[in-house]
Amino acid sequence: MPGLHIAPSTLDLSGLELSLATRKDRAFRLRDAIGKLSRPSRAADGSLAFDGYSYVLVDCPPSLNLLTVNAMAASDAVLVPLQCEFFALEGLSQLLKTVEQVKMSLNPSLTIHGIVLTMYDARNNLSDQVVADVRQFMGKKVFETVIPRNVRVSEAPSYGKPVLLYDLKCVGSQAYLKLASEIVQRERALAAA
Ligand SMILES: Nc1ncnc2c1ncn2[C@@H]1O[C@H](COP(=O)(O)OP(=O)(O)OP(=O)(O)O)[C@@H](O)[C@H]1O
Ligand SMILES: [Mg+2]
Repeated sequence: MPGLHIAPSTLDLSGLELSLATRKDRAFRLRDAIGKLSRPSRAADGSLAFDGYSYVLVDCPPSLNLLTVNAMAASDAVLVPLQCEFFALEGLSQLLKTVEQVKMSLNPSLTIHGIVLTMYDARNNLSDQVVADVRQFMGKKVFETVIPRNVRVSEAPSYGKPVLLYDLKCVGSQAYLKLASEIVQRERALAAA
């Protein structure tokens, strides 16, 4: 995909904890690597050889370990996908505590960009209850857009495609497009403030 670069994880990363344990910069390895990456650089003739990335998204495991800490130390903001399931709020409060800790100790500029409700199922009363609870608890931090449970989203990977290329018209793709524009709008508002 033009404009999209992916650095996939490998099983080797599971050994990170051990191999970095005694290093002073263990929490900042990703930040330092990304810092070099995303800076624009000039070719010998003065032209811009690489104009940097608009966004660097770091996909995290659902647990708190050195990988997650590296991600948070390297980031401007955290985007939290939250499934519309019964235990959603439980994990969320733990995550918020962690973000606060990282903010105090490693990355003062870290913010919560927003919470994305996903896997919403209109046939399921519980989904509506979770949406209402999360909105009440987190207020404006919750994006308006809710990503529905949509089989096209789960099919896309087996075709090796992002869902937007697999089926642009499906409700899942449309929701993700709406989310993207909401994210950009939110950033513009923040930058203007
Ligand atoms: N909106 C959706 N509708 C239907 N299926 C979905 C949707 N979003 C994700 N899925 C499917 O649910 C599964 C888990 O999704 P995904 O890997 O994004 O979750 P995750 O929370 O990142 O998981 P992990 O914790 O393992 O990283 C995948 O099979 C994916 O295709
Ligand atoms: Mg995942």
